[in-house]
Amino acid sequence: MNSQKPIGVFDSGVGGLSVLREIHQLLPHENLVYVADSEHAPYGDKSQEFILSRSTAIFEFFMRQSVKAIVVACNTATAAAVKELRTRYDLPLVALEPAIKPASEQTQTGVIGVLATSRTIQSNNFQILFNRFAHQVKIIAQACPGLVDQVEQGDLDSRKTRQLLWQYLAPLVEQQVDIIVLGCTHYPFLAPIIRELTGNHIKVIDSGPAIARRLAHLLEMQDLHAKTQHPGSVVFYSSAKAQKTHKVISALWGSPVSLECMTEDSQLLTARA
Ligand code: DGL
Repeated sequence: MNSQKPIGVFDSGVGGLSVLREIHQLLPHENLVYVADSEHAPYGDKSQEFILSRSTAIFEFFMRQSVKAIVVACNTATAAAVKELRTRYDLPLVALEPAIKPASEQTQTGVIGVLATSRTIQSNNFQILFNRFAHQVKIIAQACPGLVDQVEQGDLDSRKTRQLLWQYLAPLVEQQVDIIVLGCTHYPFLAPIIRELTGNHIKVIDSGPAIARRLAHLLEMQDLHAKTQHPGSVVFYSSAKAQKTHKVISALWGSPVSLECMTEDSQLLTARA
């Protein structure tokens, strides 16, 4: 039965785990397959062609796993590839975009900040989103080179991570934002430090919970939700063989996981940065 099939969730690396944990919490009976494309992270400074090519390789992997739905747990891959992927694959697909809409509705100061990768901020999708709300609030888009690498290394609270974060947060605080949108799925893992550095008067928005609710709604609508009361399985794959990825995934997931190597269709192994 289709409803028993797993759901595929992927990111350039470990960031999508921040979305996966929300999905697992909201939908504990669903079987989940997570792919971290850690061998190719970060996507944020790669070309659109490269990101589309990697996303296609991962979609094909999910097809071989007979998934019933896919969550693109990566703002950068959404901006670079989802339009094209929707035309190629006919299954429920949930994608991410920075949560500017809810932030615009909730701001009191009328100034919101968005932290995202350079690729996301330069994308057409982001420009369209920005233009939709820019007449109603001031939106400060801050690219954050280097932050994804810190999270990929499991380095959430070092001096270097704090320095980088403050470099990106200081201009937002100066311009009196009262909401910071985390426009990259790696950043929720830095939220405790972001809150510490900016203070409690600034609200931090993570898209993960909304994505999990959107997925739940889509599955219900299409009668694809798991009909069992058994706990669902969570299987982790990575394109990187490094022991380090395994350690970081276990640390971010909060318990030791076993990590499989993602196999790829050799005809698709042509992606180049
Ligand atoms: N987690 C990805 C995102 O949401 C990170 C992108 C990257 O690899 O640079 O944008």
